[in-house]
Amino acid sequence: MNKRFLKVTIFSIAVIGAYTLFSSLYVPLIVPEEPLSVEAVDTASGVEGFISLGEKIFKGKGACALCHNSVGRAPLLENIVDVSVTRIAAPDYHGSAKTSVEYIRESLASPSAYVVPGYGVAGDEKTSPMPDVTAGAIGLSRLEVDYVIAYLQRLSGVDVTVTREAGGIDVSGAVETTTSAEGAR
Ligand code: HEC
Repeated sequence: MNKRFLKVTIFSIAVIGAYTLFSSLYVPLIVPEEPLSVEAVDTASGVEGFISLGEKIFKGKGACALCHNSVGRAPLLENIVDVSVTRIAAPDYHGSAKTSVEYIRESLASPSAYVVPGYGVAGDEKTSPMPDVTAGAIGLSRLEVDYVIAYLQRLSGVDVTVTREAGGIDVSGAVETTTSAEGAR
């Protein structure tokens, strides 16, 4: 072994050792994000709080973004409020929604109530590949669904109409006709 090689080796080990020491001393430990807990949410943060929670649910627990993305497996939801109005007015619409909020709620809890043409499961246009996100593995609560609706309203550029009412959250849509204003704080 020649001297130069030995020098380089020792130098390399010293450098690696220094980095190891540095990283163990100075690089902060990466603590995983707290799991989302609706109970922990400060509802005093108001509409912006609802929206950001909705976004978290959309991209996380709700698994929405796994399908609703630019790949095209599911329709994009960027303008779902306007789109809802078109869906409800379509001659082949047979669901029971009368407003955009009802349409979104129906899409989440009974996806097959109306299947967007071209998006049914293979060989069965009447069955949606989307799971009921209020049950099963995803299992969003009523509150979580409302947060997602708030987020979708913001995406669509309409007024977010999630309001806190005695006893819970009331979501009334921008094109909603059945709004309960009584009791709203
Ligand atoms: C497994 C894939 C999948 C997941 C997960 C999923 N969706 Fe869907 N979604 C679809 C498909 C496919 C359609 C179109 C067929 C239909 O009308 O049901 C759809 C339709 C919709 C519609 C109606 C769209 C329209 O243009 O009329 C809404 C609203 C919607 N999804 C919201 C959501 C939200 C919110 C979540 C998360 C909580 C979610 N979806 C999770 C696949 C998915």
